[in-house]
Amino acid sequence: MLVLGIESSCDETAAAVVDSEKLLSATLATQHDVHERFGGVVPELASRRHMENIVPLVQGALESAGKTLDDLEGVAVTCAPGLVGSLLVGISMAKGIAYAKDIPLIGVNHLEGHLNAALMEYGEIPLPYVGLVVSGGHTSIYSVKNFGDYELLGATRDDAAGEAFDKVAKLLGLGYPGGPAIDRAAAKGDPKAFRFSKPKFTSRAMRGIKPREFDFSFSGIKTAVLDIFRKNEKNGKISEDMTCDLAASFQETVANILTDRLIDAAGARSAMAVVLSGGVAANRRLRAMLIEKCEASGIKPFIPAMKLCTDNAAMIAFVGERHLVAGKRSSFSLNATANEEIGV
Ligand code: KG4
Ligand code: ZN
Repeated sequence: MLVLGIESSCDETAAAVVDSEKLLSATLATQHDVHERFGGVVPELASRRHMENIVPLVQGALESAGKTLDDLEGVAVTCAPGLVGSLLVGISMAKGIAYAKDIPLIGVNHLEGHLNAALMEYGEIPLPYVGLVVSGGHTSIYSVKNFGDYELLGATRDDAAGEAFDKVAKLLGLGYPGGPAIDRAAAKGDPKAFRFSKPKFTSRAMRGIKPREFDFSFSGIKTAVLDIFRKNEKNGKISEDMTCDLAASFQETVANILTDRLIDAAGARSAMAVVLSGGVAANRRLRAMLIEKCEASGIKPFIPAMKLCTDNAAMIAFVGERHLVAGKRSSFSLNATANEEIGV
């Protein structure tokens, strides 16, 4: 089925065309230049930039696939979770195309997209497997019994891992987006220079939230980096060597927490395979560490290429096509939802 996928949930506008689960084309525009000076995504500015980019990106994806709107057999669009104003840009575009061409529309959860991104690269992953989606907005572990059959095993109780990367990078003056900046600085630092204690779930963080076996917490580590920074700063700055050591130690700690949880969760669900996805999965140390630990535990790691880990429309088109082929449809009342977990 020839399906167009559209993604606009945060600060990346993207379009992709798939046919029979094969990626024909993908276009993407980042908005880093817009948000850089604010040190984070400004929702209103994100929506406006999506508006400017969406039409040329869809046209570009169709052109490089050698297709036209008339060839399309379905449209898939991210409808949750994300910035509502940003999501609505993609949803409006998708509805317009589906209505004008009288083809089915399907709303796709962004997390389901990330969780299945590895399938595009590897074709098949032995079931059941355990997947970690680790991005700027989420850090969640799922058990996957089948496509569409997910169980949430744990999630962050405070900051997402990517959010912690972004906040630590901002504190260290490394710029935005923080993840890639920490990745680069860490390569020049000593990961054993600073030790951070394992996260403890405070009663405040636990209040009103049902605890899960494989939950995460990253705000304590972020605060520990802040404390070290404050103790050592002169005129709001620390040395370049210390910056790199702090970045490396922070990254090492986060990578250890994520990989240990993932391997433990795989053990608990008798899974022989694990999947890593989401923007933070682009982190070089995290990828290397997961491969090392999987080798030691006899588990097979599935880590997609960087461009499938960070936000993209290929994963949305892929998941959308599977749902459409299975007969699922969204109506024209499809709306944007800011928060929506899967597997709960
Ligand atoms: O999945 P994504 O592109 O967007 C969301 O759905 O959030 O993830 C973006 C997050 C940001 O927090 C960014 O700093 C982080 O992924 N990130 C990284 C790296 N590349 C992107 N974090 C650590 N190391 C990286 N190399
Ligand atoms: Zn994402």
